[in-house]
Amino acid sequence: MRKPFIAGNWKMNMTAESGTALIKELRPLVKEAKCEVALCVPAILIPAMVKAAKGSRIKIGAENVHWAEKGAYTGEISVNMLKEYGVKYVIIGHSERRQYFGETDETVNKRTLAALAGGLTPIVCVGETLKERESGKTNDVLDRQLTEGLKGVEDLTKLVIAYEPVWAIGTGKTATDEQAQETIAYIRKKLSKLFSRKEANRVRIQYGGSMNAKNCKGLMAQPDIDGGLIGGASLTTDFACIVNFDK
Ligand code: 13P
Repeated sequence: MRKPFIAGNWKMNMTAESGTALIKELRPLVKEAKCEVALCVPAILIPAMVKAAKGSRIKIGAENVHWAEKGAYTGEISVNMLKEYGVKYVIIGHSERRQYFGETDETVNKRTLAALAGGLTPIVCVGETLKERESGKTNDVLDRQLTEGLKGVEDLTKLVIAYEPVWAIGTGKTATDEQAQETIAYIRKKLSKLFSRKEANRVRIQYGGSMNAKNCKGLMAQPDIDGGLIGGASLTTDFACIVNFDK
């Protein structure tokens, strides 16, 4: 059985003040959740959010991590720096990092291996652009991102995959339940070829892209969808409605 996992991605939103206030509101609302719950937040907010979420169902994650243990990498954050604050999850290879900050499958791979080696749970993002979908290249893009991004991973079940079609991120345009299920089933099939069927059946795959309080039930009812990576809707108490998708 794969335990559902709902994670928020605050991106470059919230401050220590607004984030603390939101977590205070969320705490009682997610108390009875059966799924795993995380909020991935900007690095500078991590200490304050860990404090705000202490003793609650909410675990705090990061939005990126560097692969080197330490060194001359101005502006970067290491695995140990995250672990020092009790961070458990880290998003890797989000499409916004790929699109705006030169992230490649190779750097996704390096970050993923470093996070795993340090005992963090990477949430590795994959997904196609609208142009790629419309030209029938979705599966090729996913094949490449999974093959290159997960090269050298020894235990697939130690990470989480997030399928985020780029055209559905922040656009209010969600993949239909069927589109999301079909693509995530394809990802699982590809993973069973790259790893083993057993690992592919155990790894959790989230859907991300305009998931909200309304559409979460339908998406979460799909057999291959094990959770969500939530952008906009994680900035309000709507996040609690998604966490409670099964109520
Ligand atoms: P939205 O939920 O705002 O579309 O963002 C999805 C996302 O990018 C989560 O990582």
